[in-house]
Amino acid sequence: MKRAGKSEAMTITIRALHPFIGGEATGVDLRRTLTPAEVAAIDAGMDRHAVLVFPGQAITDEQQVTFSLNFGAIEKAVGGDLTKLEEKRLSLDFADVSNLDRENKVKARDDRHRLFGLANRLWHSDSSFRAVPAKYSLLSGRVIPAAGGNTEFADMRAAYDALDAATKAQIEDLVCEHSLIYSRAQLGFTELSPEEKAMFKPVRQRLVRTHPVTGRKSLFLSSHIGTIVGWEMPEARDFIRELTEHATQRQFVYAHVWRTNDLVVWDNRQTMHRVRRFDDTKEPRDVRRTTVAGDGPTVAQAA
Ligand SMILES: [Fe+2]
Repeated sequence: MKRAGKSEAMTITIRALHPFIGGEATGVDLRRTLTPAEVAAIDAGMDRHAVLVFPGQAITDEQQVTFSLNFGAIEKAVGGDLTKLEEKRLSLDFADVSNLDRENKVKARDDRHRLFGLANRLWHSDSSFRAVPAKYSLLSGRVIPAAGGNTEFADMRAAYDALDAATKAQIEDLVCEHSLIYSRAQLGFTELSPEEKAMFKPVRQRLVRTHPVTGRKSLFLSSHIGTIVGWEMPEARDFIRELTEHATQRQFVYAHVWRTNDLVVWDNRQTMHRVRRFDDTKEPRDVRRTTVAGDGPTVAQAA
């Protein structure tokens, strides 16, 4: 790989974008191999800000994978959507969250994959429907639409901190069930084959997580939640909806307006996010996500 000149002289600078969540990282070229000091600076920035924006990073797929591997193993894009292996536009190192098909054409309005993917407009944490949920997501903005398509991030640490003591005590040991079936059903997408339903079998996650480095607690909320273990489903959904409303108040949210070649990295253990509406049946939005797998499950799974 060709190295950019004067790399030794570069120093990463991170400035806060919001009182709680989000920072902008400059002074680093993600096309080249990072030094251990640079990786440590980014890790520290992620622990503090939970979301980092790296503007002006015109990277290839290969460079994005290499950068992602600094933070852990890549979660393979299997079992997270309806796309069969032979239909995939990108390699299995990428979750294709664009609005494009294999021929790079914008998906039609009634395309089943499009309708399934519309649930990315609901607040969620990536791969909370997997037994081992994601650590970081790294999203590269290759083609950005003229209007709309912002990604919003909500700080689940600040949201937890702002709860009253009684609610904190009530939720401390609660366990939720997460599945893609539940998030899709919120938008009325329920037509799934028996094989798809089996693939999207619910998993269990703690509702309160503790960050392994900072020790801060956060709410592990997601639109993938369908119930709380031991609760009746309607009372669980009512409670989760109330917590989600609390956690996504504007003071906890950083809204990212995309520019071409932004790379945005977020910590799914401490944040929720959603993409906002845009003219997705007309304008291409080619954004490519690598996902760093988490260290392990948040709680034991049901037998
Ligand atoms: Fe997502």
